[in-house]
Amino acid sequence: MLSIMIRGLGGAAAFALLAPTAAVAQEPVKIGLILPMTGPFTSTGKQITAAVHLYMQQHGDTVAGRKIEVILRDDAGNAEATKRLAQELIVNSHARIIAGFGLTPLALVAAPLATQAKVPEIIMAAGTSIITERSPYIVRTSFTVPQSAKVTAEWAAKNNIGKVVTLVTDYAPGHDAEASFTEHYKAAGGQVVAALRVPLQNPDFAPFLQRAADAKPDAIFVFVPSGPGAIVMKQYVERGMDKAGIKMIGTGDLTDDDILPGYGDVALGIITAHFYATAHPSAANKAYVEAFKKDNPGMRPNFMSVGGYDGMHLIYEALKKTGGKDDGDTLVEAMKGMKWESPRGPIEIDSRTRDIIQNVYVRKVERVGGELQNVEFATFEAVKDPVKEEKK
Ligand code: PHB
Repeated sequence: MLSIMIRGLGGAAAFALLAPTAAVAQEPVKIGLILPMTGPFTSTGKQITAAVHLYMQQHGDTVAGRKIEVILRDDAGNAEATKRLAQELIVNSHARIIAGFGLTPLALVAAPLATQAKVPEIIMAAGTSIITERSPYIVRTSFTVPQSAKVTAEWAAKNNIGKVVTLVTDYAPGHDAEASFTEHYKAAGGQVVAALRVPLQNPDFAPFLQRAADAKPDAIFVFVPSGPGAIVMKQYVERGMDKAGIKMIGTGDLTDDDILPGYGDVALGIITAHFYATAHPSAANKAYVEAFKKDNPGMRPNFMSVGGYDGMHLIYEALKKTGGKDDGDTLVEAMKGMKWESPRGPIEIDSRTRDIIQNVYVRKVERVGGELQNVEFATFEAVKDPVKEEKK
């Protein structure tokens, strides 16, 4: 019996899998998984650890003769903690790969450590464009915010939304969302009448929504990171903005599938663009959602979970390609250009940028079988990070 351990969360997170006994000649490949498991971004940590657990349950804990050991650490969304934990994992625990990174500042703070130690840093969550440019050892399986913001802009401009107020969380991915939405919306003939930014910590959207309402736009474009979407929605309805005919649109972080079931009917009809929905209609996703729900009763997988699931796939497949060699340069080379079918659809690691290329879907919130879902109705295929494409 081989045991698959996710260390760091105590007994609850440790699990075992029945498998034939095998002599493992080499050292295990240790993966330091750093995520917010407490604090306001716990949902991201829970979704990703659930997906990592599921991947290992389905694919075993040995790849190319190397045992895989995941060491989980909680940074509570605090960049100082991320830095300290990444250092400890690399130096003391001899982690050969670091992974996770629930928010942009957490991904950025680990970048110089990845470079110095030549350790791959796999971004399973954070979405600011610039992240992959901060170290040649960074590879991303999540998304870039501009991928979704650009598609939202192009869809809005073509669908009778002529005047918009943007409302974003005031940190790097929010700035990316604002810049990308504005650029592509204006290029398609739209007008942005106000650009509002809300603090990341303890956000109160009410005064900003009031200012947005006063500008009488056709729609308000919202970017918030996975988590506070429910508060924005509640305050938007409280101000009667829906009844005043001001639509709400945004990147799919707003209608995050993890929290969407709690929104109620006010969410019906919201249009967003994003790379993954629980309701994505493919055989691969149906199998994924079923297995995820079985392994995690009461939860449904959101877009963060697939970043974790595909991150593990990337690591496993890279190790297969290198025959178990785990030095950073060899692993990153093996990861470049890799393609596979994810629960979200076809994906690829851009060999030029080490960033993800994926479909972005336009979706509408509908009730399906009694449950609120993001129902996809249009597809923009093989979208590269627009910001890095423009820098070429
Ligand atoms: C980020 O901090 O990069 C981030 C986090 C959550 C999101 C989007 C972006 O939903």
